[in-house]
Order: sequence, then C-alpha cells, then structure tokens
Amino acid sequence: MEKVVVTGGRTLCGSVQVSGAKNAALPLLAASLLTDKEIRLSNVPNLSDIQQMLALLDGHGTTINYNHETKTCALRTRSIKSEVAPYDIVRKMRASILVLGPLVARYGKAVVSLPGGCAIGTRPVNVHIDGLLALGANITIENGFICAQTSQKRLRGAEIRLPMVSVTGTENLMMAATLATGQTILRNVAKEPEVCDLANCLVAMGAHISGIGTDTLTIDGVEELHGAEHTVIPDRIEAATYAIGAAITHGDVVLENVIFDDLSIFWDRLRSAGATVEELPGDSGGPRAVRVKMDQKIREVDIITGPYPGFPTDIQAQFMALMTLCSGASMITETIFENRFMHVLELCRMGANITIHHASALVRGVGQLTGTNVMATDIRASVSLILAGLAAKNTTEVHRVYHIDRGYEQIEKKLQQCGAIIERVAI
Ligand code: EPU
Repeated sequence: MEKVVVTGGRTLCGSVQVSGAKNAALPLLAASLLTDKEIRLSNVPNLSDIQQMLALLDGHGTTINYNHETKTCALRTRSIKSEVAPYDIVRKMRASILVLGPLVARYGKAVVSLPGGCAIGTRPVNVHIDGLLALGANITIENGFICAQTSQKRLRGAEIRLPMVSVTGTENLMMAATLATGQTILRNVAKEPEVCDLANCLVAMGAHISGIGTDTLTIDGVEELHGAEHTVIPDRIEAATYAIGAAITHGDVVLENVIFDDLSIFWDRLRSAGATVEELPGDSGGPRAVRVKMDQKIREVDIITGPYPGFPTDIQAQFMALMTLCSGASMITETIFENRFMHVLELCRMGANITIHHASALVRGVGQLTGTNVMATDIRASVSLILAGLAAKNTTEVHRVYHIDRGYEQIEKKLQQCGAIIERVAI
C-alpha cells in the first residue's frame, strides 16, 4: 500500500507535459479486436487502467507490444482465442465493457461480466445491451455475465436512438456497427472528443462513418477492417487538472500538448474564477501549449456538469477543490452521475464549507484549508484532494493512491517539476 504526501503552500510554476487521453486510449485498444491486422497506437499513457485493458485483450488472444518509453502500442488479434471478459478484470475497470461490441461484431459471440455499480453511481449498461439487440444480437444475462451471440454471421444495421447520451455506449455501438451488414444510424450519441478520436481511427481502419462530432452517426458496415496507425489525443481532463493546480496555488503553469477547443467551457469557467488562460502559438491544427496563471483572489463560479460540450463531470471534483477557496459561494451541480460527491466530506475534513442539496453542492469559500489524512473512492475525487492539499496549510496524506494511478501518469513527478512538495510513501 502507498499514500501520497503533499506539503501545501507552494506556488506551482513551470510546465507540464500532458499525456495521451486514458478515455480515448481505452476504446482504441478495444478496437484492435475488430481486425486481424496490426493497429499501431502512439501517445498511449502508461496507466493501470491501460494495463487492465491490455490484460483483457491478452486473454482474448491479442498480441501486444507496448513500449513504456515511447508510449507506442502495437496490437494484433489474428484470431480471437476467448470471448470471455472475466469478472476479475471487469470489476476493476468498467471500461472493460468496450470489448463487447467488437467481440460480437467480429467473432459473433461475447461473454462479458456485468460491471455492477461503482463508487460514482449505479451506472447501468442498458444502452450497450439494447443497442446490440437492435443490431441483431441475441443477449441473455447468465450468472452475472452478458452473453451475446449473433444468429447470422454478421450483425445487421439498424436505426437506433440512444435513450441517454452515453460515452462508452456510443463507442461500443459504433464499433459493432462498422462490421454489420447495411447501414446503422445512431442518434443522440455522445460527442466527446474521445468518441471522435475513436471514430477517426476506425475510419483509418477502413470503416465508413459520417457525422463524426455531431448527434447522429451514420455507419455503413464493411466486411472487414484493416490495420492503421493512430495517435491518441491529449488528455483534456489531465490538462484541466493541472490548470486547476496552477489556479489554486496562484501559480503560473504552461500545459504542453493540449487541444484548446476540447476544453472551451472549462477555460471559460476558469477565466471567470479569475485565471488568465492563454493559448500559446504553435503548429496550426495540432495540440498546442496553454498558459494558466492566477494572480488575484479566486472568484466564485457556478458550474453544471453535462455531456460534451458541457462542463465535464470528470473535472467537477477538481473544480470544487478550487471553489473551496473562492471569495464568495459557488453552486456545483452534477447531472451525469448520482453519487459523484464522495470527495465532499473529505474536503470538509480539510476545512471546506460545503453543503449538498440533492444533485447540487453549495460551496462557501473559506480563507484556508488545512491538511489531514484523506481518502477517496475514484480517480477524480482522489486528485481533487491532492489539489486541495497543494493549497492547504501543513501536510495532506492521500490514501488509496491506486485510484490516482488509474488516470494520472507520474503525477508526483509532474507536480514536483512545477515546485510542489509531494511524494509517494509506502505504508
Ligand atoms: N447510463 C445508463 N445506461 C447505460 C449507460 C449509461 O443509464 O447503458 C447513464 C450512466 O449511469 C450515467 C450517464 O448515462 O448516468 C452517462 O454515462 P456514460 O455511459 O456516458 O459513462 P461511461 O461511458 O461509463 C465515460 C468515462 C467516464 C466519464 C463518463 C461521462 C470512459 C472509459 N469513461 O464513462 O470517465 O465520467 O463517460 O463523461 O470513457 C473517469 O475517467 O474518471 C471516468 C469516470
């Protein structure tokens, strides 16, 4: 077991290299099951969730060559060895459900453990199951597993309206439809940049997809997909987390490798909180650097989370950490997950003044936070406590660091390079 110890009070100054996006890399890795040819991905972050996905793919018969230094990953699934995604992996990482669509589409069957509830909410998978049913799969739930099978060789195209916007639901159905017969129209889909990144890679693999980045995807199925090379987009959630690190410590940080427009609403809210946000010149089109500086009191800002282009739920906890020190009061409303306020009580233990009313948290700014022992139950909640610790008086000890390692690559090193006092200690 390990804990992260943060000594607060240092201003973050320097630069941070933003890694590849976890939530883009996970479906891209799963997409390698759709073809018997090689998929070469670059900018794949070295995270425990990525290792979980690679372990899952290994079980399905994928040959994997992941280079930790260059962050490149070559994957090839000549044939599918097993259609089973076991409980032991799925329970650790819900994104394991992303193998369901590709397995049924290419192999005609899949047996994937039901992920169950998790710390941030009940998180059902009806969108995935109902969508595959509409594409012609037969599905039963047996002993906690989703057992899917096609009666024909291939799934068949269909018109499907997603009952709610689901990121991995859209990704699963889009992947499945690439190999179906005929046309699939998916309506009310997620438009997150990670979904678009997957769609672009699928197109590079020979899929026929139009409407990328809109509410409706039209997919004309093909008989087979081929190999491709693809670079994973930068992690916008990681970038936003370090941007808040700069703001909460009244620092000045340059974030390298950011797609500025993917975070429009976040930059807007961060500016409203008093930060200066400046996109630095660079190559046109590609990721750029962004400078975030805070040299005034933190102002209160209300936020409401929503599907893209709304304010990301994955930045809600970090933004709340910032608002604990604002000069007024901020209302933070979570509309995506019903239980994503697990960080609130821990922040309160550090001296924050937060009251929850149903899906909203009223954050009254306090003059100072104080470090203590804290622990959190998911990736973003954990990192919000690190952010709070950076600004707090004394030392903050964050437990259950395995949550952080699921989504943040070398977080201590990246923060140390900006002057933070932070270390990982074995317990
Ligand atoms: N939902 C259903 N039924 C479904 C699917 C979703 O009711 O079949 C509900 C969920 O319970 C939730 C809402 O729809 O209330 C949206 O959930 P979504 O399916 O979009 O979430 P997800 O695909 O499971 C991804 C990210 C999450 C991120 C959410 C929302 C990945 C691997 N995970 O989850 O990332 O919070 O979208 O943007 O892409 C994280 O990285 O920390 C993380 C939790």
